[in-house]
Amino acid sequence: MRNRMVDNRATARAHANIAVAKYWGKRSEALNLPFVDSIAFNVEKLTTETTAVWVSQDEQDVLSINNYQVPPHRMARMVRVLDEIRRLRGWPKRCVLTSHNAFPHSAGLASSASGGAACALAAATAAGLDLTQKQLSALARLGSGSAARSIPPGWTRWYAGQADDGSDSYAVTIAPPEHWPLHVFVVQVSNIPKSVSSSDGMRLSQSSPFWKTYLETASHAADHAQNAILHRDFRTFAEVMHESAMQLHALTMSAKPPLCYFAPQSIEVLQYVLRQCRTVPVCCTLDAGANIVLLCEASAASFVKNDITAMDLPFIQTRIGEGAMII
Ligand code: PMV
Repeated sequence: MRNRMVDNRATARAHANIAVAKYWGKRSEALNLPFVDSIAFNVEKLTTETTAVWVSQDEQDVLSINNYQVPPHRMARMVRVLDEIRRLRGWPKRCVLTSHNAFPHSAGLASSASGGAACALAAATAAGLDLTQKQLSALARLGSGSAARSIPPGWTRWYAGQADDGSDSYAVTIAPPEHWPLHVFVVQVSNIPKSVSSSDGMRLSQSSPFWKTYLETASHAADHAQNAILHRDFRTFAEVMHESAMQLHALTMSAKPPLCYFAPQSIEVLQYVLRQCRTVPVCCTLDAGANIVLLCEASAASFVKNDITAMDLPFIQTRIGEGAMII
């Protein structure tokens, strides 16, 4: 790592990512360190662009998302990223971050991942830091755990790691986007921000009587998902994806008090996929929100598209995406 020529400003673009084998639960809340490895893919059309400008130390860190200024008490996670850059750079400057999402934020479309990755890359570059992809991924993780997976391109694995300081907890590419060019449908069931954050949902899930069993099962899910992706084995891939998503939601629903992220139409789409997937190469997943993401082989894309269109819900048809980049 070395310092590059600095003009104190940079703009980065990153894609949201959707997990096949989920991250759910933190072994360290302060550093966003997960209990288990997770596997995800970047989503081509779900992008965030962020411009970072470092200014004099007398100013304040500022973050605006889609022209809305985030209040200081909700910036703590992003300030962790900026503090780490200040530490590495050895300067006291403040950062102004201006972010634009090309999709609704906080609605289960992983905007914290694309936003966290774009902010980390833009701010580190604007500060003149020349970090490796692994270092950038670990930096983005401080802002939002899942953001670690939006730094490398394509299909990614985020290692939970073992170090207390998180130095071995970062994401890497396991296969480029073109390795398995599945079709992705992001079905927008709701654009209302979720009322319980992922972090709160994760904490609450630990009160579920199934939590311990979940951790044992989930620790194998990443290996299974990675094998299925590397062998383009859709049947196993769909099995792991459904298992991982349903376990996450079973945990929230069995927590004390229970928490349900689904909306009625999430169930409608879920039931459609679970019916079809016996004969059609289609599968789906839901994160901590009501929206649902479908994946299918190219051979099934027009069939699936017709059926989703008939459900009369807005959707984005897209592909596996690249990693974060300076633009
Ligand atoms: O975006 P975060 O870091 O708060 O975590 C979200 C975790 C899930 O999206 C629900 C699952 C995952 O692995 O992405």
